[in-house]
Amino acid sequence: MKRLNSVEAMRSFRRELEGEVGLVPTMGYLHEGHLSLIRKAVEENDHVVVSLFVNPAQFGPAEDLDKYPRDLERDARLCAEEGVQALFVPATEEIYPEGYQTYIEVTRLTQYLCGLSRPTHFRGVCTIVAKLFQLVRPGKAYFGLKDYQQFKVIERMVKDLHFPVEVIPCPIIREEDGLAMSSRNKYLSDKGRKEALVLRKTLNKARDALKKGVRSARELERIMEESVRSVPSARLDYARVADAETLEPFEGDINPGGTLFALAVYVEETRLIDNMVWSNGQ
Ligand code: PAJ
Repeated sequence: MKRLNSVEAMRSFRRELEGEVGLVPTMGYLHEGHLSLIRKAVEENDHVVVSLFVNPAQFGPAEDLDKYPRDLERDARLCAEEGVQALFVPATEEIYPEGYQTYIEVTRLTQYLCGLSRPTHFRGVCTIVAKLFQLVRPGKAYFGLKDYQQFKVIERMVKDLHFPVEVIPCPIIREEDGLAMSSRNKYLSDKGRKEALVLRKTLNKARDALKKGVRSARELERIMEESVRSVPSARLDYARVADAETLEPFEGDINPGGTLFALAVYVEETRLIDNMVWSNGQ
């Protein structure tokens, strides 16, 4: 596996490639969630590039950029074992040099959910992903549905900017007890790790209510809020029921054809997210 540490190295590597190229963008500290994307990419492409870049533009000023977990050697070993051809690890100064001032913004999908508490997050995500698309020129790019809103935002950007990239959604990978895998789970103490199960439990409660026939968006959100409050140390950012395509809230009943149940909860100091999509009774 090649390690590419500069834009020029990435470009010249790409010039030599023939056949289908798959891209898996990550911020590293890889876990089974990332590896599931990588495995799918390896299956579906002749060459796979994994990018590893902790992107400052998508972190807010009070967020965890400085303490974001890193383990480049382990990540490189895992990628090599999966059959990845190249790991792209650019330097921050090359991606955002002095004087940098170009950003990409998806205007509407970003006004809901995580966009409310992280107002500059998605423009940071779109900017780095657009750069990666330019440099790697993949035919397919792989994104996890753990970050459902991110997936929808990227899908929109690709359509709006005519990127010749197929955006492939990949299912949420969970720990055995149901906690969605995340590099940030590492921040949790043993006690916090147990409390973090409240996210999955809350989504299960919403599912139970759906099975009982509850369709009112307000009522479903109330059930989720109450469930999060049952763990006193958990702090709710949001518990929302939204249209799975537009991410807009509902006036009355949910959309039976596609409804997103989305949660963001602070456990200890760590902000965790999870979601489920309910579609035609499933
Ligand atoms: P990161 O959090 O490292 O995630 C990289 C990819 O792995 C994303 O597409 C994310 O949705 C996916 N992923 C993470 N946990 C997952 C899980 N438990 N199950 C399935 N997929 C999972 O998301 C980012 O990085 C960044 O925003 C990025 C897109 C790289 C832009 O900087």
